[in-house]
Amino acid sequence: MPATNIEDLIALCKRRGFIFQSSEIYGGTQGLYDYGPLGVELKNNIKNSWWKSVVYERDDVEGLDAAILTKQSVLKYSGHEETFTDPLVDCKSCGERFRADQVPEYCKKEDLTEPRQFNLMFKTNIGPVDDGKTFAYLRPETAQQIFTNFKNVVDSTSRNVPFGIAQIGKAFRNEITLKSFIFRVREFEQMELEFFVVPGTDEDWHKKWVELRINWWEKQGVPKKSLELYEVPKDELAHYSKATVDIMYKFPHGVEELEGIANRTDFDLGSHSKNQDELGLKSKVSENNESNAKLALKDENNNWMVPFVIEPSAGVDRAILAILNEAYHLEKIEDKERVVLKLKPHLSPIKAAIIPLKKNDKKIVAKAKEIKNKLQSLGMGRVLFENSGNIGKNYRRHDEIGTPICITIDFETLEEETVTVRDRDTMSQKRVSISDLEEVFKDLF
Ligand code: GAP
Repeated sequence: MPATNIEDLIALCKRRGFIFQSSEIYGGTQGLYDYGPLGVELKNNIKNSWWKSVVYERDDVEGLDAAILTKQSVLKYSGHEETFTDPLVDCKSCGERFRADQVPEYCKKEDLTEPRQFNLMFKTNIGPVDDGKTFAYLRPETAQQIFTNFKNVVDSTSRNVPFGIAQIGKAFRNEITLKSFIFRVREFEQMELEFFVVPGTDEDWHKKWVELRINWWEKQGVPKKSLELYEVPKDELAHYSKATVDIMYKFPHGVEELEGIANRTDFDLGSHSKNQDELGLKSKVSENNESNAKLALKDENNNWMVPFVIEPSAGVDRAILAILNEAYHLEKIEDKERVVLKLKPHLSPIKAAIIPLKKNDKKIVAKAKEIKNKLQSLGMGRVLFENSGNIGKNYRRHDEIGTPICITIDFETLEEETVTVRDRDTMSQKRVSISDLEEVFKDLF
């Protein structure tokens, strides 16, 4: 059973070093979090799993890692300067500010000001002079630099539609209302794919990507039964979208968006392109006299064609919250309780803990280090030499942080070349010969 409340998860994240409030020693900053020793491993494992599924396991997707600081023109022509806003209201009695559609119960509606539009993009200075003109934005989505690099990628890889460009990276939004720990924050990471297709095939590709993404979530331990699909109504669609399906997850605070899969049509490539009149664009774009590239391909009749884009866009931080929530289990064993994180092994921050039974026995410690080095060299992720605390405490800690197996080295190991392998979920222990250990370990993944 997943965690029943967010407080359990927050406490575990702090206690075991997954996630900390940012700048905590100075009182913290709202909407900013730091990922600790285990958090960074979990995050990397989730991102690697996404990259493997979206890039490596396909032959039609290329990767990209573009700059975060984004030139103003990019976000002018993308439509973000004009439309990436939320309605802001002030409460005249309590002095707090809210998003107009997210005013909490405790606030009296009659004390609110009229809503005014607030742009969510962060700005920063470029170069030493702060003249208010030479600024850049911190990107509000990773997608835009995929569009601006479309021609570079096509020219350097000879790709033709259908194909995609994937990117994982930070995005920034000056959110008015923050929510539920890492659910809605001001600095977060996105895993985005822009998949370019022939116009007319876009609706089929849209359906296909919704299916593919649900399957991926299942493999990360977020089952279909905890997910819902939400077809965003026409009047709520983002300015670039013809249709969006949100994958909604039952977070501890309620059912909310985990990932959005949008049909962005030819809006973005069309908006960033020169010679727009020659392209036969289907969407309505602003005239662009600044771009120096034609973001289009030639079709089989040698006519210009601007591909439509299907965009699966998932938040890494929301993925962490959903995956931790699903993995969290509180179990009663006789009269004791144990917290266990039943993470899929490929996501576990630590893949195996190697525990010498006697911390001050040189031979046992040396053998434990030898086994650690051997398993570490297999490249499956972090293997930890665990030389602190007693064995019971070690098991409890590794249950709580989701380590799939603990391997104990004792006197018998020295004589018989065997170790004890303890399974996180069943707590069963078995004796395994060192020569079989590599296979037992690899079989977990
Ligand atoms: N490029 C499309 C795009 O950015 P979005 O629905 O605004 O679409 C995509 O964002 C995903 O990014 C969301 O489904 C969510 O997982 C994540 N996300 C968006 N805003 C966020 C925030 N303030 N904090 C954490 N994650 C966020």
